[in-house]
Amino acid sequence: MAQLWGGRFTKETDKLVYNFNASISFDKCFYEQDIRGSIAHVTMLAKQGILTEKEKEEIIEGLESIRRDVDNGTLTITDEYEDIHSFVEANLIDRIGDAGKKLHTGRSRNDQVALDMKLYTRDEVTALDRLLKELLETLLTLMKKHMETYMPGFTHLQKAQPITLAHHMGAYFEMFKRDRQRMKDIYRRMNLCPLGSGALAGTTYPLDREYTAELLGFDGPTLNSMDSVSDRDYLIELLSAMSTVMMHLSRFSEEVIIWNSNEYNFVEIDDAYSTGSSIMPQKKNPDIAELVRGKAGRVYGALMSLLTTMKGIPLAYNKDMQEDKELVFDAVDTTKGCLALFTGMLKTIKFNKSRMEESAKNGFTNATDAADYLVNHGVPFRDAHGIVGRLVLYCLEKKIALDDMSLEEFKAISPVFEEDIYEAISMRTCVEMRNTIGAPGRAAMEDVIAAEEAYLAAE
Ligand code: ARG
Repeated sequence: MAQLWGGRFTKETDKLVYNFNASISFDKCFYEQDIRGSIAHVTMLAKQGILTEKEKEEIIEGLESIRRDVDNGTLTITDEYEDIHSFVEANLIDRIGDAGKKLHTGRSRNDQVALDMKLYTRDEVTALDRLLKELLETLLTLMKKHMETYMPGFTHLQKAQPITLAHHMGAYFEMFKRDRQRMKDIYRRMNLCPLGSGALAGTTYPLDREYTAELLGFDGPTLNSMDSVSDRDYLIELLSAMSTVMMHLSRFSEEVIIWNSNEYNFVEIDDAYSTGSSIMPQKKNPDIAELVRGKAGRVYGALMSLLTTMKGIPLAYNKDMQEDKELVFDAVDTTKGCLALFTGMLKTIKFNKSRMEESAKNGFTNATDAADYLVNHGVPFRDAHGIVGRLVLYCLEKKIALDDMSLEEFKAISPVFEEDIYEAISMRTCVEMRNTIGAPGRAAMEDVIAAEEAYLAAE
């Protein structure tokens, strides 16, 4: 048990207490961030004359050798250290002796861990943004390809009006685009450096906090040392943004599961992204989509946990805050994994175009357009609504679609119908007539696709 703070104590820590308190089992993944932060810290200490140039060089060399050895596996991070900060410092002192003991001048583990967590978060927000971008590119490809893949649009899970698959994919494009914007917001708001805040009240050494912030790529230093060591807002924002990503992925997964059902049969999930049953040979299950839907709960749980952990903590640092790590690490890994797998599934999924169009026809999704036809021929809308209602009833009895009726059958219900009714209620016409901004018609979709393309190219 290697502890940094043994001086004041006369007894060894109880083993169970030690284990309960230690964080090395999970904060060991911070070694790179911890070393990066320490290198910036000593660079600043030397610039300020608090360390000599020689001490700085020895420390940086020592830190870099630790990083190298952990990277290539010759140095293992073991549980005998309380946390990653103790591990790095103890190894540094082993390697370079007395100069190593000066690393922690003007610093506390409280501002150190706040820095490590921010460096980690910044990297992960960037990784999440990239995965979201890849998903958006996949969606855009599908949008371009499926402007004439007609399908029913639903409300209340009842067939409502015809749309295209491009339009349906475009709805998810908007959702994941907002998710990316949230990632950017988080990055911007959190990108202030806590290092130099000490335990809670700054330090008496003449630290140049602006310089360290700059060395580490921050926009500047944080402005209150108590807040700096006890702010976990950015993690709550990240968990909230990831919860929203998971909610979107979960809705999308739910649709894939429905579309994959025998009754819908809109899609075929690639063999590489589905699984079989141990007992029922005919089964091809949408497990990936189901797991993504299920894992949303895990990420929401992390958000609730951290909000609850933080709600009663008085200023400034308290050990409760150590609980942030496992929650955030797990939620980040889960969200990244789900994004990557879902995108892979989407890239390989096959859409059953004719089945989708059939389903739109057979669900009377063109009934509104039949009413509009009558209105365009001078019938008041309320009467038109009634006439089409009777057409639907007739078709339901005969188990046919509106498009399958003969002109005589149409005329028997209203003499206003002429041969051009077929064109007016074809899926193509129903969609192509809808060209308000954001609607599924080709002209409207082409404008949106051009705008989304420009957005992706600019980001
Ligand atoms: N492992 C701690 C955490 O994750 C690091 C900070 C420790 N500070 C302290 N005063 N014990 O929050």
